[in-house]
Amino acid sequence: MDIELPDGIVAVESPLPGLRIDTPTAKGTICFNGGQVLSWQPAGHEPVLWSSVHSRFAPGSPIRGGIPLVWPYFGNGAEATRTPQHGFARTSQWSLRDATVTPGGTATITLCLNTSSVPTETRGGLPDDVELMLQVVMDATLQVQLIVQAGASEITFEEGLHTYFAVGDITKTSITGLDQSAYEDRLDGRCHTQHGAVTFTAQTDRIHDSAEPVCIVDETAGRTIQVTKVGSAQTVVWNPWIEKSQAMTDFGDDEWRQMVCVEAVNVRDRTVRLAAGKRHLMSQTIEVI
Ligand code: BG6
Repeated sequence: MDIELPDGIVAVESPLPGLRIDTPTAKGTICFNGGQVLSWQPAGHEPVLWSSVHSRFAPGSPIRGGIPLVWPYFGNGAEATRTPQHGFARTSQWSLRDATVTPGGTATITLCLNTSSVPTETRGGLPDDVELMLQVVMDATLQVQLIVQAGASEITFEEGLHTYFAVGDITKTSITGLDQSAYEDRLDGRCHTQHGAVTFTAQTDRIHDSAEPVCIVDETAGRTIQVTKVGSAQTVVWNPWIEKSQAMTDFGDDEWRQMVCVEAVNVRDRTVRLAAGKRHLMSQTIEVI
């Protein structure tokens, strides 16, 4: 690693190469595989992000937990034909560009991925001059910002910060802030309107048309996590519930109870069209309130 790491950040090799952050304000881990934040624990709180104990930690495989990056398409894309699911960013090897820690204990880590390092057959028609940058600012809050820099040609892409949150019991958890938003239910393909808070009684997989902040109100743990965002027009809410959990090989049969995904995304009719040379930013900021 060419970058000199400051006090509070160390390189780790296990479970995959990455960085461990340990400052007076927070502890966390970031993995170069997928440019993925794996954990974040602000001082005085339990860990905020969830990871499966069945996660596969293999180079080139998605990791089940933390904040996987969805790019350049969501799911299998608008036409449902693209693979691998959720695109190549979460399975690619990212490079470290910068790592700093302020005297107050704020760690800032910047990773990058250039499409020239992605095999042409995986790139799905994108040119080889697109640069992705991930900036992670970690202290009592966690801010994750995905920056896309177009090269010499216009590009279009879908994107998402697929954040897994730890909750005490999903059946006693609600998501506020999405009241009256229109959402596409990915399970029946239809559009609905949200009334009140989102609560969980079955598999939930929805794309809400909303840029508003949300709160994850966790009655069992007695805590509320606030998620605000910039540059994202939609919020995905996902819990696989029982059968889907059993069908996923990297997800424990009962783990659906302790997690919920709340994702900042731009997908389908909110697909990003970025002119040559332009830059697009999307960020999510997470705080225990
Ligand atoms: C969510 C999707 O964003 O990701 C779900 O809305 C999907 O449909 C989930 O099941 C997990 O995807 P994956 O590829 O990580 O298993």
